[in-house]
Amino acid sequence: MRERLSMDKDWLFHLGELQRDDETSHDAIYGNAKAGGLKGAASIEWNDNAWDTVQLPHDWSYQLPFDREHGIADFGYKQRGTGWYRKKFKLSTEDEGKQLLLEFDGIATHATIYLNGSILERNYCGYTSFAVDITDRAFYGDRPNLLVVKVDASISEGWWYEGAGIYRHVWLTKTAPLHIDHRGVWVRPEKQDEKQWHTHIETKLSNEATGRKEYKLISQIYNDKKLLVAEDSYSDILEAGEAKSINTQIPVQVPALWDVDAPHLYELHSIIEYNGQIIDRVKTTFGYRTIRICPDKGFYLNERQLKLKGTCNHQDHAGVGVALPDALQEYRIKRLKDMGSNAYRCAHHNPTPELLEVCDRLGMLVMDENRNFDSSREGILQVENMVTRDRNHPSVIFYSLFNEEPLQGTPIGRKMFQRMKKAVQQLDPTRPVLGAMHGGVMEDHGVADISDITGFNYMNGAYDKFKEKHPKQPMIGSETVSAFSTRNCYESDTSKQEFDSYDRERANWGNTVRESWKTINTRDYVMGTFVWTGFDYRGEPTPYEWPSVSTHFGIMDTCGFPKDAYYLYQAFWLDEPILHILPHWNWQGKEGQPIEVMAHTNCDEVALYINGKLVSRQAVDIYEQLMWEVPYEPGVLRAEGYRNQQVVKVTEVKTTGEAVTLKAELQKQELLSNGKDATVVNIYAVDKDNNFVPTDNRLLSFSIQGDGKILGSGNGNPNSHESDISNERYLFNGCMQLIVQSTAGTTPISLQFESDGLETLLLPIPIVATDEYSHIPSVSERYINEWTVSQTPYAHRPDPNMEIESTDMNSWEKVDVSFGARETLKGIDGYVIYRNRIPMSFVQHEQDPYLWFHSICGNAEIYINEKLVLKQDFPWSMDLEVPLRLPLDNETITITVLLAINKEMYSPGVNGAVSIRTK
Ligand code: GAL
Repeated sequence: MRERLSMDKDWLFHLGELQRDDETSHDAIYGNAKAGGLKGAASIEWNDNAWDTVQLPHDWSYQLPFDREHGIADFGYKQRGTGWYRKKFKLSTEDEGKQLLLEFDGIATHATIYLNGSILERNYCGYTSFAVDITDRAFYGDRPNLLVVKVDASISEGWWYEGAGIYRHVWLTKTAPLHIDHRGVWVRPEKQDEKQWHTHIETKLSNEATGRKEYKLISQIYNDKKLLVAEDSYSDILEAGEAKSINTQIPVQVPALWDVDAPHLYELHSIIEYNGQIIDRVKTTFGYRTIRICPDKGFYLNERQLKLKGTCNHQDHAGVGVALPDALQEYRIKRLKDMGSNAYRCAHHNPTPELLEVCDRLGMLVMDENRNFDSSREGILQVENMVTRDRNHPSVIFYSLFNEEPLQGTPIGRKMFQRMKKAVQQLDPTRPVLGAMHGGVMEDHGVADISDITGFNYMNGAYDKFKEKHPKQPMIGSETVSAFSTRNCYESDTSKQEFDSYDRERANWGNTVRESWKTINTRDYVMGTFVWTGFDYRGEPTPYEWPSVSTHFGIMDTCGFPKDAYYLYQAFWLDEPILHILPHWNWQGKEGQPIEVMAHTNCDEVALYINGKLVSRQAVDIYEQLMWEVPYEPGVLRAEGYRNQQVVKVTEVKTTGEAVTLKAELQKQELLSNGKDATVVNIYAVDKDNNFVPTDNRLLSFSIQGDGKILGSGNGNPNSHESDISNERYLFNGCMQLIVQSTAGTTPISLQFESDGLETLLLPIPIVATDEYSHIPSVSERYINEWTVSQTPYAHRPDPNMEIESTDMNSWEKVDVSFGARETLKGIDGYVIYRNRIPMSFVQHEQDPYLWFHSICGNAEIYINEKLVLKQDFPWSMDLEVPLRLPLDNETITITVLLAINKEMYSPGVNGAVSIRTK
């Protein structure tokens, strides 16, 4: 049966290039050129003792200090560079004969994948997921496999913080030789009429077995109550080595639709039966929904017109760089949904698969985007990769092939787009394809009129002109707004590089939130908006540079703490009454001075009171919102929102006292004991009456006990140069955040927060026991299985310490002893020599190292550096320990095993794994 196991645990990591101590002998060069023979960090010989142990997802870049001198503003002043990862793992002998596939969800940026001394894959985009078949090259039983990943993150693909390393999950999937292919299931529901849907299913199978196989493919559809609603089966034969696509169609009556408000999901089980036994099962989540685009009325979901209320987002979050635990994806999407958003643009690249799973589950529409505008072979592969990975997700509605490309309005851009679009359509003809353009839309031989939708980045003034020229062309605000604000900040100050929150600061090419929404919402033909951005992200601190290290664009900060704009969007995008007032009311020292007060509301009218006195009652123009000037006096600002003359909402802002303690808000009330579950912990300063104090900026220190760890912290301050990996952090305008993850035990977590002048906060997080999630552990033992062996057995006792000439590739042979006894040694009387040179630098001398032979047979003499250290007869296979006694100060030692063998012996020779162990 299929197994999918996490490979995230316990990798060894080295930051930086590795200097290969290249041997120049013929022997070394000859060996390096052979399958499995690569030298350097890809080889088992490499000393990784001093490497760090890390868990995936892992991003090394944000953990480095901010570096003004060498860093680049767009990249958040973080260095990237090169890193190496190694994981040694064992596979059971029961896995022999299975198909083995490694899946990498994403590595930033260029990745080289080595297994057991050979390069198996190179990947060139930091955002694509890719898989590597390791079936041919795996070791089973005692000999561990060595998986090495070299990551070159010195290459950038964007102008934002991209992270560095294996920052998404890695999986190992084991299947039977007759199996469903990787990404082999494609489900495409198609509506026939009000009741009837066709569920088109394509299933790709391969038979890697040596014989032909008769099999049955069963396709079962389950609804979200786990009830079987429809089924289909098909029997056939696959010849040895044959691959096949099977297309079927399963009718389903009146399915529960997937919609943004009620995202009903179905699950297809694709099952292979062989000899009456289930040998493979793939589960694919999908949904029944229709999408349609119309040049005049925009976007329709399930035949209901729906304005797309979207945000663009990059993928990093406070505290963790781009290495987000899955729980954070949910936290972020939930925050956006609560704001009234129904669409998410993956700017400007493929997201992690978990993001799409959350969007499916929570009902968030997705514009899936490709990173590189490139119609070369590699570019097309990247596009195809996006489509075959993501086309089953009901949340995905559009594919965007580029963002703001200089060639977008040219004939060359047109040809490139055409080729890329064709690649998409061959794999998925159901979704519109577009590009996000920031110019060139009026050109006749560019991309604008051959994309299914014309994407406008900004250029609000061009909407109507374009519509006049291309009345039949659907249009969307693929990127809008680019307004600036700093959370809980109400005075723009260039010296502090902060922006006020009154919705008046914006990039030169952008618009305020209100201007932009008015433009979009008053034009039915513009199907929606994707605001730049939902969350602040590291890098691109436009219009500033140092000391700003992250953006000011977000509707939320890097932690997901809402800025005031969040409530403005709620007023625009939600139906329920919204009434939010800003600023805070802590203006000690400004008594009597006028303070601008603003309401974000969708009520008809709002009455504002200061300490019970009416300031005024005003009618609301939704696109203008309301402003007052109120002379400051400490106390209570109270706003009453009316609809149809009835008060429907009341909001108060109070002058607070000094902070006396902290208040915590947990994303999850408990964590699973699986070592990967995580929660956001939001911390707020509060006064004695439990009022949030938005002006407190003190330093907190924190610690954790129990089976959990703090992955990192953040506070949303775009100018903060604090480390995210520390046990202290300043509050920024009253807020701070930790990301906490369970480790693998069940001792409840206890967090403690302290600060001068504040009551200590103790925060328990219960742990719920769960089965350890299925993963492949790492092994640390040092194996030395590759030996040089005399090719032909000697009839007479040879000199065990004879020299082996570097150019002699034929009297000596490289042999992997873990595969068992060699046929050439069986049934003879004679002698054989095994030789190995082992670097000693990795051996922990103080721990009494010894050489361990799993299985050796013959009359043995063992030499270390030509000195006899052991003489013993092993008439049958036995294990053996040989102490590596000190002083062995040589960097490399030579081990020679001379074995006298005879024809009575069943398994003569060194015929099992050899490793260096310590006591
Ligand atoms: C756009 C671009 C985004 C971001 C934004 C800032 O031009 O597509 O990636 O740079 O501007 O306003």
